[in-house]
Order: sequence, then structure tokens, then C-alpha cells
Amino acid sequence: MCGIVGYIGEQPKALNVVLDGLSALEYRGYDSAGVAYLDNKKQLLLDKQVGRVQGLIDSLGGADLPPTTTAIGHTRWATHGIPTIPNAHPQSNTDKTIMVVHNGIIENYSELRDHLEKQGYKFVSETDTEVIPHLIDFYTRTTTSFVEAFEQALHQLRGAYGIVVATSAEPDTLYAARLSSPLVFGVAEDALIVASDPSAIMEHTKKVIYLNDYEFVCLHSDGSYDIKDFEHDTVVEREVETLEYDAAQASLGDYPHFMLKEIFEIPATLRSATLGRIKLESNTVKLGGLESVAEQLKYIDRIVIVACGTASYAGMYGEYLIEELAGIPVEVQQASEFKYRNEPFSRSTALIAVSQSGETADTIAALKKVESYGVLRLGVINAVGSTMTRMTDAGVYCHAGPEQAVASTKAFFAQATVLMLIGLYLSNGRSEIYKPLLEELEALPNKAKQVLDQADKIKALAEKYKDNRDFIYIGRGYAYPCALEGAIKLKEITYIHAEGYPAGEMKHGPLALIDENFPTFVIATDSKVLEKTYGSIQEIRARKGPVIAIATEGNTEIAKLADDVIYVPKSMEQTSPLLAEIVMQLFSYYVAVAKDLNVDRPRNLAKSVTVE
Ligand code: M6R
Repeated sequence: MCGIVGYIGEQPKALNVVLDGLSALEYRGYDSAGVAYLDNKKQLLLDKQVGRVQGLIDSLGGADLPPTTTAIGHTRWATHGIPTIPNAHPQSNTDKTIMVVHNGIIENYSELRDHLEKQGYKFVSETDTEVIPHLIDFYTRTTTSFVEAFEQALHQLRGAYGIVVATSAEPDTLYAARLSSPLVFGVAEDALIVASDPSAIMEHTKKVIYLNDYEFVCLHSDGSYDIKDFEHDTVVEREVETLEYDAAQASLGDYPHFMLKEIFEIPATLRSATLGRIKLESNTVKLGGLESVAEQLKYIDRIVIVACGTASYAGMYGEYLIEELAGIPVEVQQASEFKYRNEPFSRSTALIAVSQSGETADTIAALKKVESYGVLRLGVINAVGSTMTRMTDAGVYCHAGPEQAVASTKAFFAQATVLMLIGLYLSNGRSEIYKPLLEELEALPNKAKQVLDQADKIKALAEKYKDNRDFIYIGRGYAYPCALEGAIKLKEITYIHAEGYPAGEMKHGPLALIDENFPTFVIATDSKVLEKTYGSIQEIRARKGPVIAIATEGNTEIAKLADDVIYVPKSMEQTSPLLAEIVMQLFSYYVAVAKDLNVDRPRNLAKSVTVE
């Protein structure tokens, strides 16, 4: 989704830092990019381009960027108005003295636009953002300082925003504000750098300060800054936090795509999700992040997991496991639906938000919805310091490291593992599968590696099926959420129609679709319902449907039933589908490569969905 970077400092390298930062945010998905910067006469200049950040860099002079100490930049993922130069950010007031970059949506923009048009303001874009510079301009007429005008404007905006503003009236200051859209600034030795995501800052400083909702900050070129809570009209003092950063994790290395690199990081992800958290010698699970709420957890009799997309499928996998391990009823709700439901909610219910980015607007809205209910809000989140980590009472980090490909891969495994750990923790050792599962968690990274060793075989399978237009993915029990995840992966990066179904549902409708051109992926790993899955395969075969099965090593039956089989190492019924998931993620990857598609940045999608 949209990305923001702004720089103010003493060195004339603002454009280099802003453009590097925008490049670091490219993985989030965007369709146009732009910058505003101060020239040597302290006037603001604007450059905007449709397409890649590289196009913007070329337009600004390539290696020879104009020297300047102040710049703001933006990558836009279109919401209001198609990707064009007028709709790209920065948006400005008419005389180009106020430039604004904005992430989020201004919900009352049409009302504000009507009001401003009546005052004589002329609009040149279709964006909601354009109301902001005009509104600030409007208030400069009745206030005595720019900061006052900025604050007055903020009071009028409804919706979600991360905003950075540059003004030629105060060339030594940048203004930034946040409401339901992330914003962080870095405190470097000779500059302040503000961005929507710390990955745009990391290269320059690890010292950062996150803004909270209803806060704005004035960033000065001498390195000083003032934060204000404009809801309560108070000055904010906040400690600087230090980012943990592993440069190797954020770069491609020898891999052609981030998605492949991240799939190959699954064994390491499984290891780091459990590192220091399970102890085989004492049969214990220690989750430091839940210690502060351990007492409250004893009284929880219902859990609601809220999440979107892949995170919701990991949530569903967690639902099955927590119920089996801890005997607590769990339900998963798509965050976008949850927030509009009027369901009864008791104080003994815990809500768990699952998210890779920690910035997904729908999941944030779900957390906000229960704010006044007094329920326990937990997080299973990957991005350290993200909005959700600061909205939850407690939680367990996923520790998957940065995930850059739009298609979530390794994060799914970290989320599933952490939910498994929460189930083990809540079960307090009472479940029959407690000890076997602890042991299996230790063994899983090596088994995952064995699946990855079959990449060439999976690539050949992808070549064989790459021209099919429809797929169905089926599984029973623990394999069902994994089937859903297999299907979303195929559709989002290959644009092939794919659906996930519980295997038992085939005969209740989807079977009508099956013919010789409609292949089915069947997760047929060892489980107590394997015989039933065989039944589903027979039904598909009887309609001439091609079957690709993922089965457990040593299964001699399956080759007689399926057209193609990929074997995964023997594991528990609960964990085998995770090994099958690696096969499905690799399959999608290789189909996308065979079709020469943009694997890491599929069309129409964004990595972090920060609008509702
Ligand atoms: O950052 P989150 O985990 O909250 O993101 C949730 C979904 O937007 C995300 O998983 C999406 O479905 C992925 N692109 C799927 O690969």
C-alpha cells in the first residue's frame, strides 16, 4: 500500500534518503510515486511519476539528484482516482507552498471539498488527500502560525491518516501526524527521517519514535522535535526505541525473488518461533509475552481470533489446535466482518489478533471495536513495534523476520507455530498430544528442509499444470485451513482461479465443477480421516478430474489413486499439513515464474493493507 518517507537535516542528501526509503517500501505495492523538495531559494519543487520509483529517480537526474536538506516522498496505491500524475502525491495547495503526502483515507473528504470549493479553492485531482493542503491553507488565513493551522486542519479530518507536510513558509520544519495509519520517525546523527514503515529508516538509524493516534510531531532541521497529543492538547514526552535489524534478512541475497527466499526461510522461521520457548527436558512452554496476563488467562472460556487472508487461515489452524489442546472454544472471524457484527461478548472472552504486518486496517478496527468491552486483547504479530503490538494487552511475537513478498509464506508458519505454542501453554500439559507435539516442534524444521529439497520435483509439477485455468484445494481437519492457504497463494500470484474446500464438502456442490481440465490438490497426509480423503479422491477421479496428492512418505496406496504425488516426511496428524503447505507454496511460486509474472508484487495487491 502507500508509503511515506520524509527527511529534514543538515546534509543536502534529503532526496537520496527519501528515494532510497521509497525503494525500500516498494514491496508494499504501489502504482505511482512522487517527491517534494526545497530548492536553494527555499521554494518547494514537485516531481511525480506513474509507475516505478526508478522512473521518478531518472526524472530527478538519476545519480545526480538535486542537493537539498528537506524532502518528502510517497508511493501511492490508488484508492480515490486512478493512477495518474495529478492523483499522485504529494498533493499541494494552489500556490504550491504546502505539500502533503498521505496514507489512509479521509472519510469526510467530499464534505470538506464542497466547503473548500465554496471558499474558492480549486481542486486538480480526484484524491481525498487534496483536501488536506487546501484545508491547512484555509486555516493559515485565520491563525497566527503554521502549526496552529495544521492542528486546526487535523481536527477536521475524519478517517485514517499518516500525513507528512512540508511548507515553504517554514523550510526548516516538517509536520507529521497520525490517526489509524502508522508513522514513525528516526533520530539520526544529523537528521530526522519520518516514514510509514521503519524499513525505510533502518539504513540510517536504529533509533526511532512511533507516533500514536491523535499525535503530531514538528521535526526541525537542527534535530529537535516536539510531539503533541492534539486530542487532549498535551505535550508528549516519548523515549526513543531501538530497532532490531538484520540487513541480510531484508535483502535478496542469491535468490531471484523474495517469495522463494522466504519459502526457503521456513525451517529457520519454525526454529525461531520456538526458540527459548519450549523446553523438552522439563516439558514446558514458556511464553514471556503472556506472563503479565497469566492470571487473567486462567478465566478465559472463549477465544475469538481476528485476522485477514493468510493470517486468518493460520488462525483457523490455531483454532483446531487450541481447541484440541486446551479444550477452550475458539472461533476465527475475518476482521472485516467482525467489526460490523453485533455479537454478544463476555469479559471471559479473549481476542487474539493475528497479523504479519501488525498494520492491517481491518484487524486494527477489530481490536478497536472491543476496546471498551474490557476483554483481554492478545497479539500474534510479526512486525515488532507495529500498531497492533501497541494496541494489545499482551502477545507473542512471531519472530519470522521481515517478509517482503506480497504473498505471505514464512509468516504463515510462524503464526501457526505461535498459535500452537499458545494452545500448548493454555493446555498446561493436560492434553495427550502435549508431549508428542513438543517433540514434533523440535523435529519440524528438519522435515521442512526435506520438503524444500524436493523443489525441482515441485517445479516440474508446476510446469505440467501451469496452463490450467481452475484449481480446487481440499483437506480435512488440520489440512482444511492449509488447503485454503494453498488456494489463496495460487490465485494471488498466478491469477489462476483457485478455491479451498473441506474435502467432505466436495459432494455438496463443488464436484459439479470437476472435469478433465479442473485439477484438485488433495492434502492426503496421514491422519485418522485419511480413508475418508481417499473417498473424496475417488469421487473426483470418477468425474475424470486430475488429482495432485500430497501424502506421507511410505504411503503405497496413494500412487494408485492420484495422477501426481509429492511425499512429505512422516509427522503428526496435526503438523503434517504444514509440511504439505510448503509444497503448495512452492507450486504457486513456480507456476508464477513459468508464466513470467511479477512474483513478489502481484497486480492489484499490496503487502500491508492499511485501508479498510
Ligand atoms: O499483515 P497481515 O498478516 O495482517 O496481512 C493479512 C493479509 O492481508 C495477508 O495475509 C494477505 O492475505 C497475503 N497477501 C496473503 O498471501
